[in-house]
Amino acid sequence: MSNQHLAISNPKDGMQQRTFGRTGWQVSEIGYGMWGMAGWTGSDDEESLAALGRAIVLGCTFFDTAWAYGQGRSEQLLAEARRRYPHAPMRIATKIPPKNMRWPARAEDPVSDTYPADHIRAFTEKSLRNLDAEAIDLQQFHVWSDTWADDEGWQRAVRALKEEGLVGAFGISVNRWQPTNVIRALRTGLIDSVQVVYNIFDQAAEDELFPYCQANNIAVIARVPFDEGSLTGTLTADSRWPDGDWRNTYFTPERLHETLERVERLDVLIPEGMDLPELALRFILEHPAVSTTIPGMRRVQHVERNLAASDGQRLPPRTHDALKRHRWERG
Ligand SMILES: NC(=O)c1ccc[n+]([C@@H]2O[C@H](COP(=O)([O-])OP(=O)(O)OC[C@H]3O[C@@H](n4cnc5c(N)ncnc54)[C@H](OP(=O)(O)O)[C@@H]3O)[C@@H](O)[C@H]2O)c1
Repeated sequence: MSNQHLAISNPKDGMQQRTFGRTGWQVSEIGYGMWGMAGWTGSDDEESLAALGRAIVLGCTFFDTAWAYGQGRSEQLLAEARRRYPHAPMRIATKIPPKNMRWPARAEDPVSDTYPADHIRAFTEKSLRNLDAEAIDLQQFHVWSDTWADDEGWQRAVRALKEEGLVGAFGISVNRWQPTNVIRALRTGLIDSVQVVYNIFDQAAEDELFPYCQANNIAVIARVPFDEGSLTGTLTADSRWPDGDWRNTYFTPERLHETLERVERLDVLIPEGMDLPELALRFILEHPAVSTTIPGMRRVQHVERNLAASDGQRLPPRTHDALKRHRWERG
């Protein structure tokens, strides 16, 4: 594939930057979620690469992938995007799957079944190869249970990979609807970032996790900003996906019905000139604990719409207050 020498916008002129916790990195406050392009039905590699390229040109600098997204396919797409834009400033975040390949993590699983030291190293090496990189900026545990927090094996592996320069920083992606199931691990001082579901519906991370991260200078990656698509306003009562698409299990018919009712109630809160995806992103950016939020995107049009929300404009306080009342306790 050919190299394209396109101009990269100066982030200072375009997207807003935030400091990524104690790493001190400056990253675009809207990053890039890379699950869909390798794991959901309806993905097209060239379309995904065009979307990634557009994001790079517009000044997006934070990219979240994982080995589990297509068993390295998403990482390989990111490697290709980097080859096309060799001078672009990009922070690469990936994730180590649990050895037993079970999602979500279960408290009763021993750490020897999930994150033994040799597994952490082996998957870091696999990801380095997929990413065609000499180092990974941010390596994350893809699942977590705080019952593993005191284990010396993972702690030793994390220290060694950092010391060897193969990994710049380590993070944990917490289980959906369990935002505090990570605090003990954070107390070890070895973890630099937390990735957590945070959006208009899922606000529980604000209670304990965000204050802890702010007090301890731990970066926060707000994931699933659109509640897997419902907060884009594009789902209907008839929304179904091909067999094997994960969204069928998330949006079961009963859950979809309730979700759509809740989405409809947001209509009156959308300011003039804005649409629901923009409102959803702006809600997340209001929280100062958030370092970056990572919408999943496979289309240039979505990239352009979403990155445009990083313009430094605040939501009207009344709108923000009203959105806070749409918190939805699930799980
Ligand atoms: N356990 C974990 O660590 C974990 C779990 C889930 C997610 N994540 C990370 O978080 C990222 C984000 O979550 P997600 O991708 O699952 O869900 P999401 O960001 O809440 O929603 C993605 C969906 O929104 C659509 N979309 C994006 N922008 C849009 C716009 N402006 N208008 C209309 N539709 C729009 C996307 O469409 P297109 O794809 O067609 O562009 C896609 O269908 C993932 O990609 C992944 O990096 C991590």
